[in-house]
Amino acid sequence: MSKTIAFHLQKGGVGKTTISGTIACQSAMEGIPTLLVDVDPQGNASSWFYTGELNYELADVLQGTCYVDDAIVQIPNIDNLFLLPTFGIGGSLKTYAETKIADEPYVLQDLIQLLKDKYPRIILDLSPGLGKLERAAIIASDEVITPMTPEVFSLDGLEIFIDELKKIRKNLRSQVKHERIVINSFDGRIRQHKEIYEAATSGIFKVYKIPVDPVFRKAQEANVSPQVFKQRGKGLKVNTLEAIEGLNSVIWR
Ligand SMILES: Nc1ncnc2c1ncn2[C@@H]1O[C@H](COP(=O)(O)OP(=O)(O)O)[C@@H](O)[C@H]1O
Ligand SMILES: [Mg+2]
Repeated sequence: MSKTIAFHLQKGGVGKTTISGTIACQSAMEGIPTLLVDVDPQGNASSWFYTGELNYELADVLQGTCYVDDAIVQIPNIDNLFLLPTFGIGGSLKTYAETKIADEPYVLQDLIQLLKDKYPRIILDLSPGLGKLERAAIIASDEVITPMTPEVFSLDGLEIFIDELKKIRKNLRSQVKHERIVINSFDGRIRQHKEIYEAATSGIFKVYKIPVDPVFRKAQEANVSPQVFKQRGKGLKVNTLEAIEGLNSVIWR
């Protein structure tokens, strides 16, 4: 069975790209062809994993100026991981999202549908906000998982997202699931983090934690997956690895 997941909250800096990329690597490490689609006009996921020359980007595919197979690249050194990239600088996804996508909200959904046979697991990395592009990506997904940081305003952000998602489901006739939250950058020594975790678990959501770990940022700077990054023999903390493995083992079912 194939599945498409978007990690989303309208807030920036909560770990959408970090979790999308890390879970994509983890999934690929299991030997299952996994496609990471960079739906953020800033192209963070693309510049994290791909430093080579790119000829085409997602916006080209959506506009019909290239074939999707010509835009997808294999991630170097990670078997089974593929990227449908977006150029950060000089890219046209932002313009496309501001102009054309209003007329064709289902274009991304159609594209994803087409890719499902070849890539049984697809992850969409979204930009902050809830504009037309993010809505198109959400309805292209089977499930949206919300990453949030354990901060005071995060629970408010979640409420807003839940409300918006209701409208998206109704207006765009989508059945996208939303039943999981990932509390990212969690530090069990901080009382507020524990309080926010408890508040999150008191609702209807399944809640997962990813610990704060500096290796995520270092791996991004080194253009590698966090799972393989090592500096002076040290990589991700054991509990971070366990959290990633745990999350990856439940979300694809
Ligand atoms: N669990 C974590 N521990 C430490 N730093 C993290 C963690 N998750 C994300 N970061 C860092 O936080 C910053 C924002 O994360 P990012 O994934 O880019 O957020 P978003 O995509 O939601 O804007 C990045 O510098 C990233 O390396
Ligand atoms: Mg991001």
